[in-house]
Amino acid sequence: MASDTDALQLSRGTIGPIRHIYVHIPFCARICPYCAFYKDLLDRSQTQRFCQAILDDLGRQRENFAISPETIFFGGGTPTALTTSQLEFLLEGFHQQLDLSSLEEWTIEANPGSVSARKAAVLHKLGVNRISLGVQSWDNKLLKVLGREHSAEQAEQSFHDLRAAGFFNINVDLMFGLPGQTIENWRSTLEKTIALQPDHVSAYCLTYEEDTEFFLRHARGEFRQDADADAVFFEITMSLLEDAGYEHYEISNYARPGFSSVHNRAYWMGKDYLGIGPSAFSTVGMQRWQNVCDYRAYSDRVISGRSPIGSTENLTNEMKRTERIALSLRTSDGVSASELKAFAQETNECIALGLLREANGNFVLTRKGKELADSVAEAFL
Ligand SMILES: C[S@@+](CC[C@H](N)C(=O)[O-])C[C@H]1O[C@@H](n2cnc3c(N)ncnc32)[C@H](O)[C@@H]1O
Ligand code: SF4
Repeated sequence: MASDTDALQLSRGTIGPIRHIYVHIPFCARICPYCAFYKDLLDRSQTQRFCQAILDDLGRQRENFAISPETIFFGGGTPTALTTSQLEFLLEGFHQQLDLSSLEEWTIEANPGSVSARKAAVLHKLGVNRISLGVQSWDNKLLKVLGREHSAEQAEQSFHDLRAAGFFNINVDLMFGLPGQTIENWRSTLEKTIALQPDHVSAYCLTYEEDTEFFLRHARGEFRQDADADAVFFEITMSLLEDAGYEHYEISNYARPGFSSVHNRAYWMGKDYLGIGPSAFSTVGMQRWQNVCDYRAYSDRVISGRSPIGSTENLTNEMKRTERIALSLRTSDGVSASELKAFAQETNECIALGLLREANGNFVLTRKGKELADSVAEAFL
């Protein structure tokens, strides 16, 4: 385990410009009992120092790499948990430090509980052009089960505030397979979403992640997972969203034509990206590293001029290829035939089982294959 980017022996000379940046903002006003992302309860006494650390880290990365971003993604946690002036400070810092002339997409994850008309206007003014809004459900009872800090009415108001601020690319995050959720309930959540006409919808099947309260409740038998019901939820999602004109371009992602996420597509294609902030991963060339998963330690390290990297990993061509196959298999473009050359038997088996089909020289999942995407990917690992 190395401790510094310098030890990674990367140099501007050997690596092309970094085109994709992820920034992790870990604060949340309330911790949701199903969430396993690195996050911490919002502590306003820490946030300004944290924002300074992010900008210092970015400055340090500029010494290591040429950075000319096409996409920037502020995720979390909840980036909008920061105050409007802290977001302004951060975004202005990015403008000062980076050449943003090639920037195509700048996304910020937003929680309906922390979006205001003023905050939305400032984000828009500073160049953010895509918002990912964590709605999850339009049912207040289910929002309560999920421990969300907002109501369905607040989520709808946030959506309208974002549109009014000039955002023409809004993603709505939804979850299905929730405890107590019926098929009818999910259908009306989808219908309500479609009526609002977001440009993009991410629909995730609830995962009982280890180290979460939901995981314990599931282990105690309070919550049950029903694979058959999940398959029906997924089937309805595909049907309703496709009928409404959304392209199903990745297992959990649907977009109006021209609105697929450039940033996420870059990940799925195995492109290099730089991660800033606690817990953020970076992958550049044959190296992958992760920053420490503790925002206080991250800020202390960066502000005192030390590296925030917690661990590093050397990738092999084989590892990169396997990852590329697993990720691109989930997309509507599928995997190129040349990539699957070494897996002729597995490919033929999946075709015979009706899980894969050939399209334009690529192998793509069939509808049945999409329902079993994880198992299909495993066949190629
Ligand atoms: C990084 S999270 C956070 C966004 C923002 N903090 C929020 O909650 O509104 C991105 C999305 O992942 C999804 N997600 C989080 N935990 C999940 C889980 N255990 N299973 C399925 N989806 C999950 C939710 O839809 C969430 O909006
Ligand atoms: S789902 Fe979002 S708001 Fe909830 S704890 Fe996770 S990151 Fe925070």
